[in-house]
Amino acid sequence: MGNGCIHIRNISADTFYSPEVSQPEPQDKDKFHEKTRNSEPKIHLDLGDAPEPNLFYNRTSELTTLENWILSRTRLITILGLSGIGKTALTLQLIPQIQHEFDCIIWRSLHNAPPLASLQTNLIQFLSQQQEIELPDLINYLRSYRCLIILDDVQTIFSSQQLAGNYQPGYENYGPFFKQIAESCHNSCLILISWEKPREIAALENQQKNCQTLQLNGLGESAREIFTEKGLAESENWSKLIDLYRGNPLWLNTAAAAILDLFNGEISDFLSYDSLVLGDLEYLLHQHFQRLSDTEKQVMSWLANQNKAVEISKKPALLELSPSEFLKAVESLRRRLLIEKVQKGDRTLFAVQRAIAEYTKTNIK
Ligand SMILES: Nc1ncnc2c1ncn2[C@@H]1O[C@H](COP(=O)(O)OP(=O)(O)O)[C@@H](O)[C@H]1O
Ligand SMILES: [Mg+2]
Repeated sequence: MGNGCIHIRNISADTFYSPEVSQPEPQDKDKFHEKTRNSEPKIHLDLGDAPEPNLFYNRTSELTTLENWILSRTRLITILGLSGIGKTALTLQLIPQIQHEFDCIIWRSLHNAPPLASLQTNLIQFLSQQQEIELPDLINYLRSYRCLIILDDVQTIFSSQQLAGNYQPGYENYGPFFKQIAESCHNSCLILISWEKPREIAALENQQKNCQTLQLNGLGESAREIFTEKGLAESENWSKLIDLYRGNPLWLNTAAAAILDLFNGEISDFLSYDSLVLGDLEYLLHQHFQRLSDTEKQVMSWLANQNKAVEISKKPALLELSPSEFLKAVESLRRRLLIEKVQKGDRTLFAVQRAIAEYTKTNIK
């Protein structure tokens, strides 16, 4: 299934990526590197500051979904999830599966929140060097070649202390940029990796404009491999840990390290401790919570103290918020994936998972 755009493929290069292959030295990062396969079409690859691929379990269905979207010429893919859930690792794993589809693959982290103009200059610089052709605009390259641009840590361009998806001052032009890539005719693809969904993408998805979003959830039972690899005992308790941390590989690694260090590897001692031991997870959650608005903090605090899933059809009397402020805050917290929906028969309830509730109770008053 195509999208009707004409694709010019007339370049050659010699770069293939394999996740087992280690990354180039920093000074070589902007160059083309790695294996040459004479019989294959050639690809320009610049993984920039992408991390080294690491141990990787499961995610078969997510990889298939992403691959299918790319094969059906989706122009804008957003991968959403809490930190540590595995967005970066998944996307690195995807590259060897789909690299033959593209002329160029570029990975950039927005970790340092580059203004759009400097990001575009950087991308154009790379593309013009590889294609040995100068075109007026990034979109012209995306039309002339099949490029995959991956932008990681996109949440840095959104404001803190405001509802989710609001651009920081000076970064509002990213919105029209994403929209242009989704809407205009080309065969390239932009993957955004983020904690928050850009506002215009929700609207574009509703109009079916070649936009897709993958919300990444935990690893489920395949996270047991993490405990095997760490040499954790008491395998009968592993499922409890996975459930407690919703299969988040970074949180599970952090918990496993604390169990080995503080509890001599005894999961049951860890689980029966007076309160959930957050350890390094506290810092990871802090990064999410420092982004919240005051109204979101109030709602989180109320919800975390309910200790069960609750309805939100009425604003709780306790909260000094207007009904509309309350609903906007709930919606925004849902967009940040900090509150979960629980279906009980035909009733929809909302809850905060235990680790996040524990953090909220101790840190948000
Ligand atoms: N499928 C997986 N199997 C095993 N470990 C994983 C998997 N996905 C992620 N991890 C590990 O979990 C940690 C967090 O992953 P990462 O991709 O950086 O998360 P995110 O980008 O969502 O913040 C990393 O150490 C990574 O190696
Ligand atoms: Mg990441």
